[in-house]
Amino acid sequence: MTQLPGLLDTEAIRKDFPILDRQVHDGRKLVYLDNAATSQKPRQVLDALGEYYERHNANVHRGVHVLAEEATALYEGARDKVAEFVNAPSRDEVIFTKNASESLNLVANMLGWADEPYRVDHETEIVITEMEHHSNIVPWQLLAQRTGAKLKWFGLTDDGRLDLSNIDEVITEKTKIVSFVLVSNILGTVNPVEAIVRRAQEVGALVCVDASQAAPHMPLDVQALQADFVAFTGHKMCGPTGIGVLWGRQELLEDLPPFLGGGEMIETVSMSSSTYAPAPHKFEAGTPPIAQAVGLGAAIDYLSGIGMDKILAHEHAITEYAVKRLLEVPDLRIIGPATAEDRGAAISFTLGDIHPHDVGQVLDEQGIAVRVGHHCARPVCLRYGIPATTRASFYLYSTPADIDALVDGLEHVRNFFG
Ligand code: ALA
Repeated sequence: MTQLPGLLDTEAIRKDFPILDRQVHDGRKLVYLDNAATSQKPRQVLDALGEYYERHNANVHRGVHVLAEEATALYEGARDKVAEFVNAPSRDEVIFTKNASESLNLVANMLGWADEPYRVDHETEIVITEMEHHSNIVPWQLLAQRTGAKLKWFGLTDDGRLDLSNIDEVITEKTKIVSFVLVSNILGTVNPVEAIVRRAQEVGALVCVDASQAAPHMPLDVQALQADFVAFTGHKMCGPTGIGVLWGRQELLEDLPPFLGGGEMIETVSMSSSTYAPAPHKFEAGTPPIAQAVGLGAAIDYLSGIGMDKILAHEHAITEYAVKRLLEVPDLRIIGPATAEDRGAAISFTLGDIHPHDVGQVLDEQGIAVRVGHHCARPVCLRYGIPATTRASFYLYSTPADIDALVDGLEHVRNFFG
């Protein structure tokens, strides 16, 4: 078995993930390489969800009975865990949403309805990048269409990195918000936050970071990032679906208006007007995803117990090995950085002129799960003149043997298509 420096004890870790023992297609061992789409869940998270529903289920912030108090303590306890995980200065800066898309839509809507100095209007500009997931493009397009604001973006270099050569023309005195991804879900690129934040701060623009592909894989420190908002989702980091996070700077959350109205986000309501609860509750209308937050808290305990720096080192070793092995496959072209440096654990590629959907299907028949398509980042495919890619993405339980299986599987794909 291939040994690489920095690897975690995957034999022990994989025992926590029952699904990884599954066989598919008549006894094929499952090789799960679709972690950028969603991660698998450890027993500890499944147990926390089961225990929540079996012993504590009630609505939060509303009841005086014992279950309501327990559910509230668990839900708010999850907020504490998230705050600590991202090094937030205050737990009140952590807003629970349903996913990263909702978090990003929340920021766009806050700014669309805001008063000066935050309001986005026809005299202002919004800046994104060409490597964004659709969830960090469409909300800004909607905001631009509704307000008349101008939408601008950074382009990409041929090797899959952000082209910041025109940063002073893209981010200007008119820029109100710069929103960009920390780690690309399709290219794997890790972006240079510092340079972008520095320029945004020079012109007084707000910064929003989509950390969906970063939070599961590396230590995340919102204070070190110096952003104003950071969005991520629970299901890619061993948590359940249906729970996302928006971290925002406290003074902004105090000033900015709510997006969704409803129960629990108010201070007082009359028939003619309402006043709002302080953040984060101002942004959490209705019954929140309680069990999902508790599950995310358990996922954070699990990941923190292993150590995010160790998970990062493990994935770096796996990614380095994967880049090396994939480049040995004839006709394979990596879309994105063809190196393990400054890149995350998702690798997109094309294989000659075999359509990625065919690649994915033949890999699936061998038990190997990858994602194919434009990965909700269609502008990236347009930029590189390809209809789609095949993407293999790794996590803390990925092994060198998984990479070998992928490379063997690709050899089979090549033989199959002649
Ligand atoms: N955003 C997820 C992905 O990239 C679904 O696959």
